[in-house]
Formats: sequence, structure tokens, C-alpha cells
Amino acid sequence: LAGESLRSLAAKRDFLIGTAVKPQPLQDEPTYREVVAREFNIIIPENHTKFSRLHPERDRYDFTQADAIVQFAKEHDIKVIGHALAWFHALPRWVVEGNFSREELMEILHDHIQTVVDHYRGQIYAWDVVNEPVEANGSLRETIWYKTIGPEYIDLALRWTREADPDTLLYINDYAEGLNSKSQSFYNLAKELRQRGAPLDAVGFQTHVGFLSSDNSEEVAENMKRYAELGLEVMITEMDVPIDQFSGTPEEQLEAQAKMYQDFLKVCLDASNCNTLVMWGFTDRHTWLTGFTGSKDPLIFDKSYQPKPAYHAMWEEL
Ligand code: XIL
Repeated sequence: LAGESLRSLAAKRDFLIGTAVKPQPLQDEPTYREVVAREFNIIIPENHTKFSRLHPERDRYDFTQADAIVQFAKEHDIKVIGHALAWFHALPRWVVEGNFSREELMEILHDHIQTVVDHYRGQIYAWDVVNEPVEANGSLRETIWYKTIGPEYIDLALRWTREADPDTLLYINDYAEGLNSKSQSFYNLAKELRQRGAPLDAVGFQTHVGFLSSDNSEEVAENMKRYAELGLEVMITEMDVPIDQFSGTPEEQLEAQAKMYQDFLKVCLDASNCNTLVMWGFTDRHTWLTGFTGSKDPLIFDKSYQPKPAYHAMWEEL
């Protein structure tokens, strides 16, 4: 099996294995580029398809950096996921401070979705249409979209995305993976959307293990099953696993991390409705957690791009 990568092993079983990517290291670090192209068959721009990046002013879109990522993907035959059309973070000031009426904000969201989804029509495997719609207490999150447009902003966003690109997979995304009140609400939302005939194909489980998300892979497996019964796919969309949540020596921590990656991969491989696992980066050199929680080394390659036990564990599982 020498010469095999995660990507080549995944391809043999029609599985999508991926990472979030940033344009800067993609441009500046040849090793970053090489590893992405060798190991992954799907990528998500970590920040550059968010609202504020693509649409910095009401009458101005900027696709430069997202285009560079999509172009890289095309050259290496890698699929791309777009993230995220309607979210409460990463909004430009002109949206947040605009004091728009319901009609105006609907027009703004419609224009945004139409323009962005049309720009990438035919080039995006799946769109994260609504990110983090549910609050920890189970109610719909009171975002600017929710408060101004009403709960139907979710149905509308899904419909507008489908209209702009009929051939891409549409999903809602949240950290609601285990079995708890939040994941129950996320499930109820998905179920109601299906019952109302909204164009929803899948749900995303962010899977920031031990930070926002459950570390209980058995619960995650259970949860996946009930989405299968609704006819919905599940994708693992942002997996990372900081090692400081595990006790023991550094070697033991790395082994526990490896087991977590392997367990979650196995859950997805074993489920009838999961064929995608994307990590929120791949090298500990570039992880959002450094700035956010200070959590340590959550990914499968170390800072020098050497594979960690977690890489080998996933390789074995594939
Ligand atoms: C994070 C990025 O990784 C950071 O670089 C950025 O500063 C903030 O957003 N859930 C999501 C992602 O859906 O978009 C977030 O990404 C991480 C949590």
C-alpha cells in the first residue's frame, strides 16, 4: 500500500475526505499545496466564501480569493463546498448596521445568494446554506435574518440557492452531533423543512470535538440514523480534536486524538447516509483554535507537515 494517500484510499470507496483551506498558505507554502492536492478530494474555503469576504459593500462583490481556491481545486480535480450563505457571523457592517426593513433584508439576502451561487454555478459540490441556525437552548437562533425576515428566512435561503444552482447539494450546518436538546431541535428543524418541501438534501455536523461538539461517537452514529430515515445525508464538515482534552503523556494524548478521528471516520463510513468527512484544516501550523481557545494541536499533520498518529489511524480505517 505504499504510495497510497487518504485521498487515493477514499476514492476506492467513493468517499470524500477533505479539509478547510486558506488562500494565504495555499499561495505561499508549496508543502501546504502539495499535501492538500495529495491527501484530499474535497475542500472548503475556511473563510473566503463567507458573506463579509464576498460582499464587502452593498454594491460590490469580491471573488478574487475564493476564485483562487476554486481554481486550485479545479487543477487538482478536488470538489469544493461553499460556506456559508446565511450566517450570523462574518457579516459586513453595512448589513449589521443598515437598519433594513424586512423587504430590504429579503432583497439583500436574495441578491447575495443569487449572485454568489450563480458565480460558482456548476463548480460547487455542496452549499452550506444556513450555518448555525439553532441556539444551545434549542430555539432558532435570533440572528439578524431571523429577527428581521422571520423563521422563513431558512426556507427562502434554501429555495433561492436551489434556483441559482439546481445541481448542488444543499445543507444546513451546526454543532449538533450528539444526542441532546440542541441536536433534537436541529433534527426537528430539518424534519419540518422536509415536510414543508424545502429543498434540503443534507445536514452538516461541524464536529469540533471537545469544544463545541460531542465526543461521543456512538451518539453521533445514532443521530445519523434518524436523518437517514428522513432521507437526508449527513456530512462531517469541520472536524478537529484538540489534544489538551485528553489526559496522560503527550504520546497518550496523541493516541487518544487518533482514536477519536478513527472512531468518527468509522461512524461515517458505517452509516448509510454519510460519505463526507471534512476537517477544519490539516496542519497544526494553521488552525483557528490557536487564536480562539488556545487549544492545542487539533489536526492530523503537525506544524512541519509530518503525519501524526491521527493521520495513520484514518489511513488504516480507509
Ligand atoms: C472560523 C475560522 O476558522 C476562523 O479563521 C475565523 O476567524 C472564524 O471562523 N464554525 C464555523 C466556521 O462554521 O466558519 C468557523 O470558522 C468555526 C466555527
